[in-house]
Amino acid sequence: MPKKNGVGNSASTFQKQEDFVKIMSMLGKIWKGVIKHSFISNTILYYDMNGGPGITLDYIVAGSPVLAAIVLNENNLDHRGYVSEMSEKNVITLRQAMMTYNDFYIVQGDNKTVLKNCLPDMMHKPSYGLVYADPNGSPRDEFQFLEYVSNQKSCRYIDFLISFGAAGTKRAIGAHPDRGHQIDARKLKRLKDFWFIREFMTKGVNKWCFLLGTNWDKFPIPINTFYSIGSDKGKELIDFFNIQRQDDNEYLNESGQISLLDGVS
Ligand SMILES: C[S@@+](CC[C@H](N)C(=O)[O-])C[C@H]1O[C@@H](n2cnc3c(N)ncnc32)[C@H](O)[C@@H]1O
Repeated sequence: MPKKNGVGNSASTFQKQEDFVKIMSMLGKIWKGVIKHSFISNTILYYDMNGGPGITLDYIVAGSPVLAAIVLNENNLDHRGYVSEMSEKNVITLRQAMMTYNDFYIVQGDNKTVLKNCLPDMMHKPSYGLVYADPNGSPRDEFQFLEYVSNQKSCRYIDFLISFGAAGTKRAIGAHPDRGHQIDARKLKRLKDFWFIREFMTKGVNKWCFLLGTNWDKFPIPINTFYSIGSDKGKELIDFFNIQRQDDNEYLNESGQISLLDGVS
């Protein structure tokens, strides 16, 4: 998979962005419907932990902060977006791409630390919103901010969305069982009460997928490729991470990313 400034593009990128828009659009409609309750802030909060360059490498698809801003504006939702991005080069192009979206703030730095200052304080009315994690490979450090958010009372209505490569994550778990790449129901449920998993995208060796976490028991299944992790299909998908084959670690580099098989789809 070609990579530039920490961003990879593969056959699944288009599908990923399409799913992201569907999920954001669904959330936008839900937020619009429920925002009237007075005990909840009428400002939607959106956190993008891995902002990227604002546009994909092939310059065809807009990046997640742009797509999120479009959906929030289309739904006339009062909002604040906070985007962290580590790469200086990506921050420059991202700021250009986001120039017309005044309610979005781009912070250069590590998502483990820089987004914490952008959360509502405990005395604030709870807010609806989304935290999106889209590391280029398997999530590990991203769980630190997600855990922090899940412990803030004012953030209990803020949902979580994680995009990641299932195959690379499985290999990372096998090679480095103590490094926190684990994806299992118990760990997820410490963060949010209910989770959905997307079936793995068939294109590409990385098997890109999404995890969507919420505390709302009536949360609608966003797309028909998503399954509750309590369902038979959901359990089967989650089990993929926990059942290790011996040859799974063969192609893994230090960071838990696939190395030799990159680009093969
Ligand atoms: C897959 S790309 C994100 C793509 C973006 N979500 C989009 O839709 O265009 C991953 C991005 O995360 C950034 N990144 C990696 N680790 C990070 C960290 N700890 N904090 C902030 N950004 C990070 C990389 O520089 C890269 O731009």
